[in-house]
Amino acid sequence: MRLLFLLFSLFGATFGYNFLVYCPLFGHSHTKFFATIADSLTDAGHNVTFFTPTIVEKYRNVNYTKSTKDVVHMEPSEKLRAYGEQMVSGDFVRFWTEDSSATEIIPVIELFQNMYNEQAEVMRNNLDFLDDLKRRNFDVIIFESYVFSAYPLMDYLAIKTFIPSLSLTHDVALAQSIGEPAMPSVVSDVCSPFGEKLNIFERAFNAFAAPYIDFVLGYPVHRSFKPPYNVIDIRNLEPEASFVFLNSNPFVDFPRPTLTKTVEIGGISVDLNRLRSEKLDEKWSNILNLRKKTMLVSFGSVMFSKDMPMENKIALAKVMKQFPEVTFIWKYESNDTDSFAKGIENIHFFNWVPQTALLADSRLSAFFTHAGLGSINEVSYLGKPAILCPLFADQMRNAKMLARHNGSIELTKYELADKNQISEAFQKILFDESYAESAEKLAQQLENQPIKPKDLLVKHAEFAARFGRLPGLDPYSRKMSFIEYFLIDVAVLCIVILISLILLFRKLFCVVCSFVIVKQKRKIE
Ligand SMILES: *[C@@H]1O[C@H](CO)[C@@H](O)[C@H](O)[C@H]1NC(C)=O
Ligand SMILES: *[C@@H]1O[C@H](CO)[C@@H](O)[C@H](O)[C@H]1NC(C)=O
Ligand SMILES: *[C@@H]1O[C@H](CO)[C@@H](O)[C@H](O)[C@H]1NC(C)=O
Ligand SMILES: *[C@@H]1O[C@H](CO)[C@@H](O)[C@H](O)[C@H]1NC(C)=O
Repeated sequence: MRLLFLLFSLFGATFGYNFLVYCPLFGHSHTKFFATIADSLTDAGHNVTFFTPTIVEKYRNVNYTKSTKDVVHMEPSEKLRAYGEQMVSGDFVRFWTEDSSATEIIPVIELFQNMYNEQAEVMRNNLDFLDDLKRRNFDVIIFESYVFSAYPLMDYLAIKTFIPSLSLTHDVALAQSIGEPAMPSVVSDVCSPFGEKLNIFERAFNAFAAPYIDFVLGYPVHRSFKPPYNVIDIRNLEPEASFVFLNSNPFVDFPRPTLTKTVEIGGISVDLNRLRSEKLDEKWSNILNLRKKTMLVSFGSVMFSKDMPMENKIALAKVMKQFPEVTFIWKYESNDTDSFAKGIENIHFFNWVPQTALLADSRLSAFFTHAGLGSINEVSYLGKPAILCPLFADQMRNAKMLARHNGSIELTKYELADKNQISEAFQKILFDESYAESAEKLAQQLENQPIKPKDLLVKHAEFAARFGRLPGLDPYSRKMSFIEYFLIDVAVLCIVILISLILLFRKLFCVVCSFVIVKQKRKIE
């Protein structure tokens, strides 16, 4: 028996690959996504190193990975720490009332690029540390596609195979880079506030947003850490990625053409079995038992309910009071709620809520959410009807994406002071059974996906580890010019032929006509 076990483990070891997941610590949801990737590969029997250099200090004490034990940190420089603080203290409060439009995005991307450039500097100043990593002979590196400091790291560690990935649903720039049809006429980019039904201006916005950002910012310049310190040609290297993992799920997202290279693993962070086994403690259970229906209200961990304009709070509380048969659990980050909710018995405020356990409980009727991708995935998998109130970044697109499945209602942040709109949405989501049915149907589909996101991830990562770069998957289309790709030259050729034929027939007609006229003239004479 022991021999068998030994043989088995030997056998297992020869099939284990060494993965490096590089995830600078700057955002909670980003790190969660990459930690799940690391854990999935560890659980499949591989050696995974989770390299997570600190940028934002406050996440440093969170244990993001579970089964992955080889977690490597790196201290930030003063400059990098300052960038991290700048990002966290970003003035998010204004997004309760202001548009987060395309013009907002350029300074944000710029800050991100400066941050990753500085992160690369920190690594360059710690080459001993990297030498240590290099000894682990990684087969594959996985990183967030726009964290470009991964390229000099990959170069220094001599890792040939790489999988740029995205903790968001869709990035037009990345798609175009690997030669995927981006279809801006029907598929919106990640920070676009549009859905799939687009008017001419929205289509124009979609078509020009990515090229404009590329024109203004382009790819950052990263140099090799090794002499002769050549510039790394990221633009030409990126398309050689073996695969690209996206945090979108084809059963939830807008349908679109993709390449074999694009692997959609959205929902991988939702561990249904674990969520269902989570038990609510007595305090929460008692609250769910108070009334027949219960709604959870939460705007996530970046935007706080306490910062929303007072008129919105008053409107929300007044509408909640109109539904005395419903209990409202409101994640509210301060203890001062008397100013707008004094004496309203069916609202329960908490600084923190066990969101997933509540969503997994059959007694919870509906979820009022800011449509962050994490919450969208959870509510989709757990099949709860939802009111989606997106505030900024990718949330507008997320909301449109989920509302398309008829299990949820979109309420814009500008309607949050409008009691009639809120009340109508509450009435529908709580008492119109069709929303719960549609939400449940989507959850069933997600549970019965032909291939589970985790399997997709593990199988493709193993395939990349075994076969390296996959030029066979690289479409020639990405080397074609705009004119060739959209058959504009063919169209011009067709038009030239058509015009020539028309001219030719006209000429013939004239010749025949003059011939006939001459003949008739002769007859008359
Ligand atoms: C995986 O990691 C362990 C411990 O670090 C090491 O002993 C083993 O050789 C590694 N496996 C491979 C395939 O490198
Ligand atoms: C994280 O893991 C470390 C080491 O295993 C442990 O000491 C620490 O208490 C954990 N922290 C949290 C917040 O769970
Ligand atoms: C609210 O009150 C509770 C209990 O008194 C306390 O633990 C918590 O820290 C307070 N929250 C805030 C944001 O002040
Ligand atoms: C949502 O409802 C509309 C209108 O009833 C229907 O046409 C559409 O197919 C539904 N969508 C889904 C995903 O079920």
